[in-house]
Amino acid sequence: MMQRRSFLALSGVSALAFGAPARAQSMANTARATSPGGVLSVEVSTDGDGRPTYAVSRLGRPVVLPSWLGLLLTDAPKLERGMVMTAAEPVEVDDTWEQPWGERRFVRNHYREWRISFAERWGLTRRFDIVFRLYDDGIGFRYDIPNQPGLTTVRIAAELTEFNLAEAGTAWWIPAWEWNREEYLYNRTPIDAVGSAQTPMTVRNESGLHVSIHEAALIDYAGMNLRRAEGRKFRAQLTPGLTSAAVVRQTPFTSPWRTLQISDTAAGLVESSLILNLNAPNAIGDVSWFKPMKYIGVWWEMHLDLKTWGSGPKHGATTANAIRHIDFAAEHGFGGVLVEGWNVGWDGNWFGDGSDYSFTQPYPDFDIEAVAAHGRAKGVQLIGHHETGGNAFHYEQQMDAGFALYERLGMHAVKTGYVADAGGAQVAGPEGGPVRAWHESQPMAQHHLRVVEAAAKHRVAVNAHEPFKDTGLRRTYPNMISREGARGMEFSAWGQPGNPPEHEANLVFTRLLAGPMDYTPGIFGIKTRSPDGIATTWAKQLALYVVIYSPVQMAADLLDNYEANPGPFQFIKDVPVDWAETRVLNGEIGDFVTIARKARDSEVWALGAVTDEQPRTLSAPLSFLDPGRRYRAEIYRDGPDADWTGRRESIVIEQREVTSDQALTLSLAPGGGQAIRFVPLGRARR
Ligand code: NOJ
Ligand code: CA
Repeated sequence: MMQRRSFLALSGVSALAFGAPARAQSMANTARATSPGGVLSVEVSTDGDGRPTYAVSRLGRPVVLPSWLGLLLTDAPKLERGMVMTAAEPVEVDDTWEQPWGERRFVRNHYREWRISFAERWGLTRRFDIVFRLYDDGIGFRYDIPNQPGLTTVRIAAELTEFNLAEAGTAWWIPAWEWNREEYLYNRTPIDAVGSAQTPMTVRNESGLHVSIHEAALIDYAGMNLRRAEGRKFRAQLTPGLTSAAVVRQTPFTSPWRTLQISDTAAGLVESSLILNLNAPNAIGDVSWFKPMKYIGVWWEMHLDLKTWGSGPKHGATTANAIRHIDFAAEHGFGGVLVEGWNVGWDGNWFGDGSDYSFTQPYPDFDIEAVAAHGRAKGVQLIGHHETGGNAFHYEQQMDAGFALYERLGMHAVKTGYVADAGGAQVAGPEGGPVRAWHESQPMAQHHLRVVEAAAKHRVAVNAHEPFKDTGLRRTYPNMISREGARGMEFSAWGQPGNPPEHEANLVFTRLLAGPMDYTPGIFGIKTRSPDGIATTWAKQLALYVVIYSPVQMAADLLDNYEANPGPFQFIKDVPVDWAETRVLNGEIGDFVTIARKARDSEVWALGAVTDEQPRTLSAPLSFLDPGRRYRAEIYRDGPDADWTGRRESIVIEQREVTSDQALTLSLAPGGGQAIRFVPLGRARR
């Protein structure tokens, strides 16, 4: 449904900017548009020098002060000064689309699209548009560069895009340009103490308003970081490419959307579908060959150093070990078994190299044909693994054969990996051979797209570790099922330090705003190689299956730990992985969050609540439940003495009958959590 309405205000301002060239009669101009419900408004102006800015306000209160727009080019004058601006009328769109799987089934996409055209008044007379999409819960804008005589190949040295945050507040962020890519603990600092940050970066203003800056639909472009230029003003900083241009494109093209999610609550940020909505619809057709699933794997034992990826006496990926895992998966209802270290190439220096890997040749002690056949007979899929050591160049020569092998064996998912220090990935260089690149450079954006397109042809879904950041491309390429892109559970296996109790409450309001994460929860074995081991209670490990969305959810611990603890393990077996609806009941960044989700294929609801190192008592109104029904609440809560520094395994498992008019009081231990499954019983007694 498309409605055309006019919400435009355009006013000429006659001020002449000081220092403007004499020929410049003032080009000052201002136009304004609002979101469908009038919550957000954007004002775009050119000053007397014809330099464009935008500003954002919410319910009349400034959120982003006037911020420059423009592009710095390597081989031509920058696209910024001397612009004459023309604002079109906003066009309202309100439609609803369906996800093949997801945190919710139906997504409402209600916005006003607003196109502003800029043309240089003299000289090269080049043109570009800025397209805004205004939602009530955020905005996106992007550069749209048409094909034109003076601009065919565009070499972007830098974006001049700014985010000049209006209000003081607190920022949650991880540093950009550090060696360990996205795998950093979150900083919590005043906004004006941020250095260079990755996105999403989330801030809470002193007034309580929450804003998260990120990007959407990043295709064939460089990833954006945020460099604090001064005060609370941030500038988009593009990831370097192979030359002095971060981005090289032929016109016409559009940049990724620069996004601002804006909400008066932290929960509102999580409920927003802005990032997904700004992506194009499914481009790969039927994806019913992939089914969301929980999986186990030959994996944690390597991270604990009980087994190795490489060959030898401790090799983890043996036929016998894989078959043991498949049998366990079949017995307990898991859909998949990941086996890492199955293919040759792990014995040398794979970290940051990867040139030894074969993606088709198994180690001699791993009979992939027999293991996959055993899985098929038991209804369990083998999940593939393609660690590349960051060597995208080498991988591209073999990936098609690798996916073809998986397709033939009935394997529909692969976990990829790009373990190389930042700047140490490898892509094809100008002479054809490999050259080093940043993980979020334009050539790596191109690589990841080639991977999902090749995988889709073989009906394989991709879960990338050390990935390119998520910008919601799963809407267009649903086989981009999940990824890492933050510190996952593995850091609690060997990290120095591991993940602290606040980590997941940080992730929910930052990294997870970008999309699903393969976090790999469910660890009961609390002693690891990391000084604090697993810095959560068991109940919190269970809650993570609800709090963190991913259509592939690992039960990451050793099988022995599940066999020894059938009580809490039952929740991992029972919790759904695909959802019809998601509600964020409460939450504060880095402190706590409670999320309830309704299963996609049944009337079951699940709830997860997690806290940081502070104990908390949270109220969870059950008004999300069907009012006509009674439910059995299967509760997994922290025991009275549970504490992440002490008795982490102290858990109470109990059942209660509940209805939608009740509220549950959730008592979370320090570093604790709570997980509940609500199973409908019958009609409520009136
Ligand atoms: C890092 C990944 O995050 C981890 O899950 C994997 O086991 C190793 N790389 C080896 O590929
Ligand atoms: Ca990793």
